[in-house]
Amino acid sequence: MVRSSTRSVHGAEGRDRLTGAVTTPIYQTATFGFSKARDVVKAVKGESSSFVYSRWDNPTVRTLERKLAELEAAEDAAFFSSGMAAISTAVIAMLQARDHVLAIRDLYGETYRLIHDFLPRFGVKSTLVDTTDLRAMSDGIRKNTKVVYVETPTNPTLKLVDIREGGGIAHAKGAKLLVDNTFASPINQRPLKLGADLVLHSATKYLNGHSDVIAGAVAGSRDLVGTIKKMRRVLGGTLDPHAAYLILRGIKTLSVRVDKQCEGAERLADYLSEHEKVVRVNYPGLESHPQRELAKKPMKAFGVMLSFEIRGKMKDAMKLTESLKIATLGGSLGSVETLVSQPATLTHTQLSPGERKRTGISDTLVRVSVGLEDVNDLIEDFEQALAKV
Ligand SMILES: Cc1ncc(COP(=O)(O)O)c(C=O)c1O
Repeated sequence: MVRSSTRSVHGAEGRDRLTGAVTTPIYQTATFGFSKARDVVKAVKGESSSFVYSRWDNPTVRTLERKLAELEAAEDAAFFSSGMAAISTAVIAMLQARDHVLAIRDLYGETYRLIHDFLPRFGVKSTLVDTTDLRAMSDGIRKNTKVVYVETPTNPTLKLVDIREGGGIAHAKGAKLLVDNTFASPINQRPLKLGADLVLHSATKYLNGHSDVIAGAVAGSRDLVGTIKKMRRVLGGTLDPHAAYLILRGIKTLSVRVDKQCEGAERLADYLSEHEKVVRVNYPGLESHPQRELAKKPMKAFGVMLSFEIRGKMKDAMKLTESLKIATLGGSLGSVETLVSQPATLTHTQLSPGERKRTGISDTLVRVSVGLEDVNDLIEDFEQALAKV
């Protein structure tokens, strides 16, 4: 299967062999029984494909993992109970005391906490470099750098990292490139094909797409994912089978959702960029985006996320976000409903005002995750809300 919409529907799933059911059953079981004691020994040693215990592996979760592996062009994938469980387990699995991590400055808040505050407690130092500065990335790599960690496009300022170049820089010094692909989704960007070693997701977002599950995932080579799965057994951030079923269901419409949402985002970005009360729109598809050409290379479309700054003060942006009637003010993204947030008051409060300024997060910046509503209704909604500011 070559095309992503076909992969989204059929990838890793077929009719259930026992009943012919066209959807994957939910194996809502904590453990699996055996008839022969010798089979237990084999299964525990990994010498058979039998399931043992659902913290280790579960058939519904396994099917989901195979589906994501197909979407991300990976050999294998692992799912977790949250995006942060996936990120922390994968990062920890790649490191030992005295190793070094190089990461971009524009990290998701909790990933920043993991790399910047938590890892040093265990003897792993980190350096944060300017997100768009490949030279700084190359200069920042040390002999003991094991992980180069990037997100692209970034949250919430939609900066881009050149994955191909980043992979080259990391590999030249023996480090692995980890890419958080949450914002692009595998429909718009497949980092493993560009040279990344591992791709990470908050599956809470586009993969599931319906704001009803918290989940995370990592995909890559069988070898690396195998190491991460061993760590998952220990740290225990496994995904529940029912949540896995919901994500399998969500992924079936991933391709159509993302394509349609990208169309909406492009229209909304155009509209906002013409509005007199808007100072700046961050959207890779706009001519004004400094990295538009770079976005064209790896990305199929310019994405579903955008952010914009309005004239005025923090309270004006607050007024705008609470005046919207269709778009919902709230955290998260990548769902069927349009979600808006003000990073300075919600998602990026962990950063000091100075750190926020340095990454381009002003007090009046508003982030939008465009949903599946009619974009004309959305534009009218923003029009009436902007009029109240
Ligand atoms: C880019 C990115 N990565 C990781 C995460 C963490 O995912 P989760 O909330 O599922 O733990 C988020 C959450 O918003 C995110 O936006």
